[in-house]
Amino acid sequence: CQSTSTSKSESKAKRNFLDNASNLLTNLLSGGTMGSMPVAEGAVSDLFDKPLFFSLYDYFLEHGSVYKLAFGPKAFVVVSDPIVARHILRENAFSYDKGVLADILEPIMGKGLIPADLDTWKQRRRVIAPGFHALYLEAMMKVFTDCSERTVSKFENLLEETGSGEEKSIELDLEAEFSSLALDIIGLGVFNYDFGSVTEESPVIKAVYGTLFEAEHRSTFYIPYWKFPLARWIVPRQRKFQGDLKVINDCLDGLIKNAKETRQETDVEKLQQRDYLNLKDASLLRFFVDMRGTDVDDSQLRDDLMTMLIAGHETTAAVLTWSVFLLAQNPSKMRKAQEEVDSALGEGKMTFECLKNLGYIRLIIVEALRLFPQPPLLIRRALKSDVLPGGYNGDKAGYEIPTGTDIFVSVYNLHRSPYFWDCPNEFEPERFLVQRHNEGIEGWAGFDPSRSPGALYPNEIISDFAFLPFGGGPRKCVGDQFALMESTVALAMLLHKFDVELKGPPESVELVTGATIHTKSGLWCRLRKR
Ligand code: HEM
Repeated sequence: CQSTSTSKSESKAKRNFLDNASNLLTNLLSGGTMGSMPVAEGAVSDLFDKPLFFSLYDYFLEHGSVYKLAFGPKAFVVVSDPIVARHILRENAFSYDKGVLADILEPIMGKGLIPADLDTWKQRRRVIAPGFHALYLEAMMKVFTDCSERTVSKFENLLEETGSGEEKSIELDLEAEFSSLALDIIGLGVFNYDFGSVTEESPVIKAVYGTLFEAEHRSTFYIPYWKFPLARWIVPRQRKFQGDLKVINDCLDGLIKNAKETRQETDVEKLQQRDYLNLKDASLLRFFVDMRGTDVDDSQLRDDLMTMLIAGHETTAAVLTWSVFLLAQNPSKMRKAQEEVDSALGEGKMTFECLKNLGYIRLIIVEALRLFPQPPLLIRRALKSDVLPGGYNGDKAGYEIPTGTDIFVSVYNLHRSPYFWDCPNEFEPERFLVQRHNEGIEGWAGFDPSRSPGALYPNEIISDFAFLPFGGGPRKCVGDQFALMESTVALAMLLHKFDVELKGPPESVELVTGATIHTKSGLWCRLRKR
């Protein structure tokens, strides 16, 4: 690791020099509308030869923590600083909406929380956030455990079927397996529907994957041709997409109808008393229908469910994928994690109490999220003009953001910033236990685990927005604790039973990105029974 003060000051000096040089260019390009914001003029090939967030990291080291990226007629402001990120996401959150992201997701999620306009969002967030109550999460432990057990049993059976001998092993694409596991969990936790995707394939599962695939295609395709009149009828992939949406929507409509028809006053009472553990169906859909009565609008409910299905599936699968990828390259950390699980779990069942004793596994999950944040970029568009505060370089205060400016808050850059993390590219779960002072960075409160007492996992508050795995401010992820607990349970149960190693060298695992960072051809691993 070379994150010493020398390398920091060298790169700062380099940045200052480049900033000055690019100021001239900025003024020429923007007519001065964004002050003297540095401009990154990358080669177009930079943007297409590798995932965009890699190039944005290189530009960040070169141009500083707030710069403008111009390609073609389009320009984005890229933010890689916690103080500026905090301003956009929390302090002045309602001056921004989801911009390009909402354009892409609206056809899929409708008026769901992620793309929703401000008025709809305010109304729905008030209904949805209370659904993720602590007791609901505790009740979900059973879903997390049952589904993970199904995955573990599947692997055990596969091993059983494999020849004989002491060194029996199986080779599996764990990314695909985690994807099925996360889909099953989200189906049961959000609308009490068992996709059963770990063991079978159904038209609904195929439609969910088809929809995710299309969302990814849209997020990386430059021209939104799907908006052209007739595109949905003429372009074969758009026709397929419409078909997939219909399959999922019909399934969700059926579940909503059923939830409304089976609403029972006794369940409502249990919900009101937060008696989740005695509810047969503790899903969010049950909560929304029971607590709001049958008058709740079906199409809004469907958009909410679809949003959570999409938002909570690939993201969680990716966290598990990268956790295993990182652990497999660090056998001593893998052993430490296994020892922890063995002592917390023994031969018993996973419970909420066990989870509290899985401190190291929890840190592995957040460290994987630091190195591979999902999504790597948060997208915003200015609804009104704004002035950004000074970031890490105090001299950069006062950039003007005109109405309509598109902004990427690069979580990837923040999480790997050499100015806020020691050895930023290294897998070091223990780093979250160490307190860091603000080191003279004006406006940044430093890193202090005691700032969020009782939290099971490090979050944006203890790091004052240097660590943003679930965003921050009012639009922060509603499913953060659900996802973290789910990932902890699944990883712990896997490591409890199996030794895992990568099938090929780590370099052969290529990254691609859409909404999440995932592999190009799967995370192929070799599993042996412990
Ligand atoms: C929003 C990450 C799992 C539902 C977000 C945001 C991030 C995020 C970064 C903020 C986006 C922004 O500010 O533009 C993740 C990660 C997950 C995860 C990394 C898994 C490890 C889940 C799960 C659910 C969920 C399991 C639901 C069950 C949502 C919703 C929003 C959201 C509804 C929109 C919130 C709003 O705008 O009010 N997520 N998420 N997420 N997430 Fe998650």
